[in-house]
Amino acid sequence: MLLCQITDPHVVERGALAYGKVDTPQHLERCVRKILALPRRPDAVIATGDLVDGGTAAEYGVLREILAPLDMPLYLAVGNHDDRQQLRAAFPTHRHLAGEDGFVQYVVEDFDVRLVVLDTLIPRKPGGLLCEKRLRWLDRTLAASARPTVVAQHHPPFATGLSFMDRMSLVDPGAEAAVISKYPQVERVICGHHHRNAQARFAGTVASICPSTAHQLLLDLVPGADIRFTLEPSGFQLHLWDGQQLVTHTAVVEDFRTWGTRD
Ligand SMILES: [Fe+2]
Ligand SMILES: [Fe+2]
Repeated sequence: MLLCQITDPHVVERGALAYGKVDTPQHLERCVRKILALPRRPDAVIATGDLVDGGTAAEYGVLREILAPLDMPLYLAVGNHDDRQQLRAAFPTHRHLAGEDGFVQYVVEDFDVRLVVLDTLIPRKPGGLLCEKRLRWLDRTLAASARPTVVAQHHPPFATGLSFMDRMSLVDPGAEAAVISKYPQVERVICGHHHRNAQARFAGTVASICPSTAHQLLLDLVPGADIRFTLEPSGFQLHLWDGQQLVTHTAVVEDFRTWGTRD
């Protein structure tokens, strides 16, 4: 199975710029074209939150239009910039977005790898939370099947050294670790939010962050540094399950010269 992860597209209305600088719809359009042109077609696409920038119906309308050419199953998760109701209204055929207890949490059983999508959103707050209700659902869901599993969520459960974003991270990642560590079938916890690729050991598995399809976070690693973004090449990730292990590849959206030995 080949699972494509995109994250943090921060789509704004046509003609607008995110932060007054980034044409995020154009960035996502380029990314969608790149995914469709991949030599091996992904079996599914998961978008791990901050799907739009302001949580408005108009932005979700643009998002829906840009993602429409993706002809494989598409799964959406919420980030701190998202609005659950507006998201559900924009994607009415995505019945699983109804979730449980009001949260956008659901499980996908259609592939060789089980996909468990979590909701870390605290409305109008930049940080993330998996409250008792959400964690109880996760526990129940993981207990229901020992099949290889990928957990997808917006806020990563580990600190990265990118201090500004770490300050708006997941509250009490230890509570999530206590659940995940009971289930060795969890191959990966895939996240967004930091706008930069990073990974760490977490709860007996690997947690990873996918680069944004738009702007990236400057790689400063300086404690206390202020937030700075950069327009270095944007990207997405391909998680390849070969029946034994899950291998994660990072792809860039930009096109570069390629050749073989006979060229
Ligand atoms: Fe983001
Ligand atoms: Fe975020």
